[in-house]
Amino acid sequence: MPPQLTRIALLGPPGAGKGTQAKRIVERLGLVHLSSGDILRDEVAKATDLGRTANTYMERGELVPDGLIIDMIRGRIEAAEAGFLLDGFPRTVDQAEALGAITPLEVVVNIGLTRDEVVRRLTARRVCEGCGKIYNLLYDPPADASICPSCSGRLLQRDDDKADVIENRYDVYERSTAPLIDYYRERGLLRDVDGSRSSDAITADILAILNG
Ligand code: AP5
Repeated sequence: MPPQLTRIALLGPPGAGKGTQAKRIVERLGLVHLSSGDILRDEVAKATDLGRTANTYMERGELVPDGLIIDMIRGRIEAAEAGFLLDGFPRTVDQAEALGAITPLEVVVNIGLTRDEVVRRLTARRVCEGCGKIYNLLYDPPADASICPSCSGRLLQRDDDKADVIENRYDVYERSTAPLIDYYRERGLLRDVDGSRSSDAITADILAILNG
């Protein structure tokens, strides 16, 4: 049996399902989930210097400067000896170059989704403040829209899931992150997955890619 891949990045527009899939995949494969967005939101919640600076960009849907992000994630990547699944990083060519100098990726899974579907999904997203589970009021509605069925935590809307910020996030994605599709394709690392299907179908595709 070919070895399972262990240095993996998920690419895709905001709301493509990177976080949803990352949680499923790391649970199955025992990898470390490194979500740059989750790490940043934790820094914001703790009101650290990084969190306060990052929030001025995040609330507008702009990217946090590359230097801050690379410093934030470098040690976490180096510590993930059993392997990692990156979600939300890299997001610019400079971040990809910095990552390559830390450790080479084995595969980049690109989850594609149209702008219209991104807006539809993100305006209906709710996240549990207790366990971090992700829900959708359109596609995966909990019985009570404000309570997590798993842990009874409060379900909250992310600050950057407002319609105007979502549109800007998609613009930023097209301008700064979409060039990574060709960057990784040219290096023979890119695998495309259609993000418009059910979560189960997408998970099956990703697992098939990772298991060769
Ligand atoms: P980040 O948290 O990374 O946000 P994002 O990339 O915009 O991605 P999202 O978390 O919004 O979406 P997702 O793809 O994970 O989708 P999800 O699974 O939740 O970044 C936030 C901010 O932090 C950035 O704007 C930036 O400011 C900063 N930042 C982060 N990383 C950075 C970096 N590297 N450099 C610079 N700045 C950085 O799914 C979305 C919804 O759809 C959910 O409701 C879910 O239930 C639903 N859903 C998922 N899959 C399906 C499906 N198959 N069918 C139907 N519904 C589905």
